[in-house]
Amino acid sequence: MTRSGTPAGVRVILLGAPASGKGTQGAILCEKFGVPKIATGDMLRAAVAAGTELGKQADSLMKAGQLVPDSVVIGLVKERVSQADAKNGFILDGFPRTVPQADALEALLSGLGTPLDKVVQIDVSRDLLEERATLRRTDKRTGHIYHLKYSPPPLGAELEHRADDQPETVKKRLDQYDAMTAALLPHYEKLGLLRRVDGVGSPNEITARILAALGN
Ligand code: AP5
Repeated sequence: MTRSGTPAGVRVILLGAPASGKGTQGAILCEKFGVPKIATGDMLRAAVAAGTELGKQADSLMKAGQLVPDSVVIGLVKERVSQADAKNGFILDGFPRTVPQADALEALLSGLGTPLDKVVQIDVSRDLLEERATLRRTDKRTGHIYHLKYSPPPLGAELEHRADDQPETVKKRLDQYDAMTAALLPHYEKLGLLRRVDGVGSPNEITARILAALGN
């Protein structure tokens, strides 16, 4: 709580491999805590759809399962975190993904005097990650995330199959995670911020585990 007695807000990173459930859980947690979800993947896909210079630059990298340059995503997050609706916190989904991104975030939050609360790693085995990604479908209108097997969309929903959810690209994205992003786990462990959560179970079960890890 703050000195005025209002909730101090929540600043949490959801860390996990592609398709581990960050977006699904991020949407639930944002609703619960009343803070925005800041998802660099969503921001980049919006830029691609809008055909901006940034979108053109990011499009081919994303389709190839590669990371977009640090400077680009750091710029996006700096701008977004400084907006009024993020004053009481945020759920970060898909950022940071590299050590330079983590360093930039720490510098940004320390400048704002609002340190991170926790970093939650959602842990799912590689086999399941591939199945979760390739059968994912997103509602074009609402952005709601479905899964053809585990969370089927309603009849008539207008669905999008992400360009980077083709099996070969998913494998490359998982390799990128192992090569670049997994290095953040010891980084946040050393800072005492890391909490690991088993990501296998129903979405409600995972939410309950995350809330327990956050001390709620
Ligand atoms: P991004 O959009 O961040 O993708 P990602 O990290 O690969 O994560 P996903 O969106 O694939 O999965 P998720 O963990 O959100 O899982 P979801 O909840 O959807 O990034 C895309 C690209 O953008 C990157 O490859 C890179 O090029 C670029 N980029 C983004 N950020 C960047 C950065 N910081 N630096 C550099 N480049 C960056 O769930 C997946 C599926 O599983 C869904 O179908 C869902 O319904 C289902 N599901 C969820 N939970 C469960 C459950 N408990 N049980 C069964 N099914 C479940």
